[in-house]
Amino acid sequence: MALNDLWVEAYRPRTVDDYVWCDAKQKEQVKEWINRGAIPHILLSGAAGTGKTSLAKVIFNELNVESADILYVNASEETGVDNMRDKIINFVKTMSFSGEYRYVLLDEADYLSKNAQAILRNAMETYSNVARFVLTCNYPHKIIDAIHSRCQGFSIKTLDKDDYKYRILQILATEEIAGDEETIDTYISAYYPDLRKTINAIQQNSTTGTLLPPSSSESSNNDVYLTMIECFKKKSLSEARKLLIGNLQPEEIENLYIFMYQNLEIFGGPTQQEDAILVIKQALVDHTIVADPEINLAAALVRLGRLGQE
Ligand SMILES: Nc1ncnc2c1ncn2[C@@H]1O[C@H](COP(=O)(O)OP(=O)(O)O)[C@@H](O)[C@H]1O
Ligand SMILES: [Mg+2]
Repeated sequence: MALNDLWVEAYRPRTVDDYVWCDAKQKEQVKEWINRGAIPHILLSGAAGTGKTSLAKVIFNELNVESADILYVNASEETGVDNMRDKIINFVKTMSFSGEYRYVLLDEADYLSKNAQAILRNAMETYSNVARFVLTCNYPHKIIDAIHSRCQGFSIKTLDKDDYKYRILQILATEEIAGDEETIDTYISAYYPDLRKTINAIQQNSTTGTLLPPSSSESSNNDVYLTMIECFKKKSLSEARKLLIGNLQPEEIENLYIFMYQNLEIFGGPTQQEDAILVIKQALVDHTIVADPEINLAAALVRLGRLGQE
């Protein structure tokens, strides 16, 4: 499949108004930069698929930066610090084609070692009159203070669920894909707040022109979260247990608890949700101390399955 056929690329926002904002103040800030025609160094932080790279691209697009003036570096794919430094410095040393600055978009900056970050910080300082750096990261605490203090920080919060859903509905409408609300909600619950994963999953399951539920579609994958949501909806926690146990690494089990906490509505009404919080909390505490986290997960699923039945 060509890159342009991917909905995540085709529906990547191009303008400030097309971008779905989680914070009106951030929108104002970005508009102000665009009006001024200049940005500071920026550090965008937030969970995967929440729009960090998209925001950087929106800013470049709105500033009418020529693509030749943008260097894209993905820190997680770089082979060595020296290589990366040479690449960046050679790029920023060359005159801009279109304006005052050249731009370096450094994705996944939290993959860089402290040493590599120190080198980056030097480059940011040395070339600040000719280049602007936009960094993205998942974990801002992994970025050294010296970089934080040279960047305007932008913490991308997770999108409001209604805005998130609206975006999905827009894409389905544009693609003329029919889909019932329950199915759409399943995909949203499974991947929220990662919009990239949600969009990819609905594309994979829409090849017939109708959005199919995860289980009945041919390309249905073994994604644990989708499995979970399906089983919870069927109130079949024992089925979830059978599917999940044996298929998860300890750190995935931890993520699963967090996922359940983020999607409390799958456990039922307000009372069940409160009880679910208590079960999940205890399971997380026990997770770190039990000899076998899998048994602990199985027990937690049993307890969650009994909520509202007692
Ligand atoms: N705030 C947003 N507004 C509109 N689309 C978004 C937004 N966030 C994510 N997307 C969609 O999800 C995809 C992944 O977003 P991306 O910016 O690459 O996430 P990140 O860099 O945070 O991992 C984009 O291609 C876009 O289609
Ligand atoms: Mg990104």
